[in-house]
Amino acid sequence: MSGEYRAIDYYKGIMKGNCRKELVDKINRLKKEKNAVILAHNYQLPEVQDIADYVGDSLGLSIQASKTNADIIVFCGVYFMAETAKILSPEKMVLIPDRKAGCPMADMITADELRELKVQHPKAKVLCYVNTTAEVKAECDVCCTSGNAERIVQEAFRTDDEIIFVPDQYLAHYISTRAGRDFILWKGYCPTHVKMLPEDIALQRTLHKDAEVIVHPECPAGITSIADKVLSTEGMCNYIKASEAREFIIGTEIGIIHRLQKENPGKLFYPLSERATCPNMKRTTLEKILWSLEELGFEVTVPPDIMNKARTCLQRMIDYKA
Ligand code: 13P
Ligand code: SF4
Repeated sequence: MSGEYRAIDYYKGIMKGNCRKELVDKINRLKKEKNAVILAHNYQLPEVQDIADYVGDSLGLSIQASKTNADIIVFCGVYFMAETAKILSPEKMVLIPDRKAGCPMADMITADELRELKVQHPKAKVLCYVNTTAEVKAECDVCCTSGNAERIVQEAFRTDDEIIFVPDQYLAHYISTRAGRDFILWKGYCPTHVKMLPEDIALQRTLHKDAEVIVHPECPAGITSIADKVLSTEGMCNYIKASEAREFIIGTEIGIIHRLQKENPGKLFYPLSERATCPNMKRTTLEKILWSLEELGFEVTVPPDIMNKARTCLQRMIDYKA
């Protein structure tokens, strides 16, 4: 079978012979022709991770986006991540293969709702999780990820008595216990991480007695309080690589297990719960990546005034990481 197929053929189900290889070859060819780079989040489908130039967490991917010499970034993740890449690399074309790949947590607070909260707490400084829209970031002082939230609170908000932390109530609760600081909360949450229950930890511990339980701070307090370690996705990858332990129960979106297994072939990984999948992260497929490269869609854009304000908020976080 020749390389004459276009993405639309795959959509129509015209798949014969060794079409997976053909699809991968075609993506790689187009990527070179158009000087594009493919970035994929740790939760993406295995075949999407495998074709990516870089796999990582939301912060790592954005920094990667700002450093690349490519003209086009195909961002395989959810919308706020692609938007963050665009804000940090405004001169590049950022594409998201599926426009509907949103993050329900990011959509749990709007800029109007945040403005209202700020009116109620006029003296408060505002910290936002990176899982927010550009409009919300534009209303905030500093941004954070789950990997740097504790440090940002301790350093950037050292002298502030009142801190609004949006939108994830569970990340805010966890950081509050670590940093010994109180926050004005927003009742947002990740629908995927709240599926994990304390009973799941109890069951997995009986099945895998030697395994360490590692969970993400988006999990509710009933989970983070009994896990062995609470880490961001990149934190999990780094910790496991360096660990002497051989078995791990992973309490986050199950897509990360593909990367963990690939990077640590001698170690064993068990999902804390197989229910922990993010449907939005699974919307991106090889067929959609090919379409994205062929048609240069869907292009991510952010209005300039929002972009500039949101960049200030993001840049403060990046500067604290240094
Ligand atoms: P990371 O910041 O660790 O990439 O996580 C983002 C996310 O959406 C977790 O659910
Ligand atoms: Fe959003 Fe949760 Fe999916 Fe992460 S796992 S993208 S927080 S819905």
